[in-house]
Amino acid sequence: MTIAIHESALIRHFNTRKEVLRAWEERIGARFSPFRGFKMPDSRLYIEDSNFLDSIVDLIITNERHVFIRGPVGSGKSTLMLLALRDLPTLADRRGNKFVTGYVGMTGLYEKQMAAAIADSLRVKYKRSWESSQIIDAVAKESLRRYVEEQSRTALFIEDVADNQEAAFHKLRFLADLPTEEMIDAYGKTRALDEPIVTLVMSGTMIYWNAMLSFLPQIADRTEPLDVPALNNAKAREFIGRRISYAQGRIDSFDPENFDIYPFTDDAITVINTAANGNPRDIRMLARGCQQVAAEILRKNNDPTVNREIAELVSEAYATILKEVQ
Ligand SMILES: Nc1ncnc2c1ncn2[C@@H]1O[C@H](COP(=O)(O)OP(=O)(O)OP(=O)(O)O)[C@@H](O)[C@H]1O
Ligand SMILES: [Mg+2]
Repeated sequence: MTIAIHESALIRHFNTRKEVLRAWEERIGARFSPFRGFKMPDSRLYIEDSNFLDSIVDLIITNERHVFIRGPVGSGKSTLMLLALRDLPTLADRRGNKFVTGYVGMTGLYEKQMAAAIADSLRVKYKRSWESSQIIDAVAKESLRRYVEEQSRTALFIEDVADNQEAAFHKLRFLADLPTEEMIDAYGKTRALDEPIVTLVMSGTMIYWNAMLSFLPQIADRTEPLDVPALNNAKAREFIGRRISYAQGRIDSFDPENFDIYPFTDDAITVINTAANGNPRDIRMLARGCQQVAAEILRKNNDPTVNREIAELVSEAYATILKEVQ
């Protein structure tokens, strides 16, 4: 009985909170919170740093190094991978090779799961009963065939690469080293096999990069780490502007040269971005916190503005929480 009473009090509390938030959203013409997390991110919400994206794509195209997209949690590594994946199939390298791409987004994989995930992502056929080495062998053969017969190099994207079992790495290393000596001997007459045919594009934090340096120097030595740049204030402004416009159902007419950030002030965004260190995940969390405070104030004085004072209040509260967590 006691539990039921508490439960309904809790539910009432959350319902009131929801209504308060909803009133703020309605007031700014939004259909949902602009700062909610989306399971499937919409490319119209991406802020593109075309210089950085180009540097990733250029490295893949020149085929000199594997790539490690390096950055803290929430800095946008996965987003950048998706953007690079989008661009690659439309491009060719200096020798005229096109690209076949594969993306492994799951982590915590052991050897066989990794082998299967790679084969699936590259649309290479295999039998469920096969051992991981047989699966990887099939991937290697098919990558070689695509290179020789279809003039296609393979770009394999692996998320949070260090979050997999160590044995899974050896599969990656084998692919990173292709073509093998045997392949060169066998195919060398048909087409010069004088370059890698599989480029690895991995992601992870600095800690994982350092781990890779010490445990997998064979791959690390041939891999270029690229640090995800933080969003500057102008980009943070666009990040918030796009999300508001998206929630208002107006994203298709979004003009990056001229857009509204109402009900946020420029000051508020600068405060948020400074507290977030330009990390998009943290910008979103802080903006959502600001929405909550602004929604409470709206109820009292009928003004939905997120100004500098609100942003400072929320940033300080988050800094305290983060300190306690660490
Ligand atoms: N360039 C960007 N433009 C718009 N939103 C972005 C951008 N980069 C990241 N985000 C958003 O920030 C959040 C975190 O991004 P993402 O998942 O890409 O980071 P991550 O570095 O892969 O994080 P994790 O370490 O948790 O895997 C997502 O909600 C994503 O949509
Ligand atoms: Mg990620």
